[in-house]
Amino acid sequence: MALINLLTKKQIEVLQSYLNDDWKYLILNGAVRAGKTVIDNYLFLLELKRIKKLAEREKEPHPQYILAGYSSNSIYTNVISSIENQFGIVMNTDRHGHYHLFGIDIVPAYTGSVRGIGAIRGMTSYGAYINEASLATHEVFQEIVQRCSVGSARIICDTNPSTPTHWLKTDYIDNHDPKARIKAFSFTIDDNTFLSKDYVETLKAATPRGMFYDRSILGQWVTGDGIVYRDFDKETMLINEAPKNLEYYCGVDWGFAEGHENVITVFGDDPDTDITYLLDIYSSTGKYIDYWVDIAQQIQEKYGYGINFWCDSARPEYVSYFQQQGIQARNSDKSVMAGVEYCSSIIKLNKFRVLQSCAKPFLDDVYQYVWDPVKGVPKKEHDNVMDSFRYAVFNQHKKVDNQVFKNIYF
Ligand SMILES: Nc1ncnc2c1ncn2[C@@H]1O[C@H](COP(=O)(O)OP(=O)(O)OP(=O)(O)O)[C@@H](O)[C@H]1O
Ligand SMILES: [Mg+2]
Repeated sequence: MALINLLTKKQIEVLQSYLNDDWKYLILNGAVRAGKTVIDNYLFLLELKRIKKLAEREKEPHPQYILAGYSSNSIYTNVISSIENQFGIVMNTDRHGHYHLFGIDIVPAYTGSVRGIGAIRGMTSYGAYINEASLATHEVFQEIVQRCSVGSARIICDTNPSTPTHWLKTDYIDNHDPKARIKAFSFTIDDNTFLSKDYVETLKAATPRGMFYDRSILGQWVTGDGIVYRDFDKETMLINEAPKNLEYYCGVDWGFAEGHENVITVFGDDPDTDITYLLDIYSSTGKYIDYWVDIAQQIQEKYGYGINFWCDSARPEYVSYFQQQGIQARNSDKSVMAGVEYCSSIIKLNKFRVLQSCAKPFLDDVYQYVWDPVKGVPKKEHDNVMDSFRYAVFNQHKKVDNQVFKNIYF
């Protein structure tokens, strides 16, 4: 069968570079679902075969190789089980948690925290495969590079883009010094010709304009710029009346001082249309917790007992006080980028409406909630309603683990 039936054009380009070029680092970066890991998994197997021969020549009885990924789960899902599906090769761990293939001892390293270094400290490796490299702690990445001290050791990586100032971009991908021997390939989603047209169209339609689109779809290393929720359109998204009998829930951002309002937002989802309605906003400064208990109880009376109050977890004493008063207060997952991406997506998909009666505080914030282009996250200004919105909407829907909202921003 011709290679073009098995691999995308971009994957063939990478394979040719793997086989013919002189490289020490081979870095595949770019869009989600672009085919980076599939080809890297194949190169990983080729590397193991190469190392087997090399070790035999060098009479090394116990060659080792590092298989790195953000967590044990992500290594398993992205690499181990994919290899099983793609190539029918089953890999099991030994009692040390290592994998073995072609006589190579494959040592997993978790890059998400510095504790990941423990597994590889002191080791001499014939090479490394680093999945989702931009998520790696810089220290762990450097340790992996140092462990690859066998003369011919090479490192293959794949990654989604992050901020343009990320070390992987500035120190490696943009390093064109021939002595560094770095080969980098940038993927867009359209490079993956195995994805159905429908899937790609749906994904493009659901991805918010701006940074999220430029990173996830075009594979660019860009930072946020301007208004965070730029797809919000007050001409079409403000309404005078919402349907009855929705699935109700709230968001709670604690606050007290001027500029740090306490905000409770009330939302309702329509399961028939998948539209989320913002129905009420309670916002105030200088009020103590009993005032907010009172508000929450009024909300319960109006919208139903047992509805979720997704709270800022930074004030656990308030969360438990709410609970003691019979309010279903829950700690929010406060992941900023994943939450903002989710909220942006429902806006982009035109699945979000705001009741006129509470529009003012929402509009005041939504048009002033902007990216910090240096940090690559939203500025902590005009963010009280926005945080409350994010806690509620992101957490209420989190269990719907939709691939469209694949969380690439930790
Ligand atoms: N050569 C191929 N043959 C058949 N299907 C492929 C091929 N390459 C990629 N695919 C399909 O595309 C999907 C996405 O590929 P892959 O997981 O390699 O993308 P990725 O760039 O690593 O994405 P992400 O950034 O989301 O991790 C795969 O699950 C597979 O279904
Ligand atoms: Mg991948």
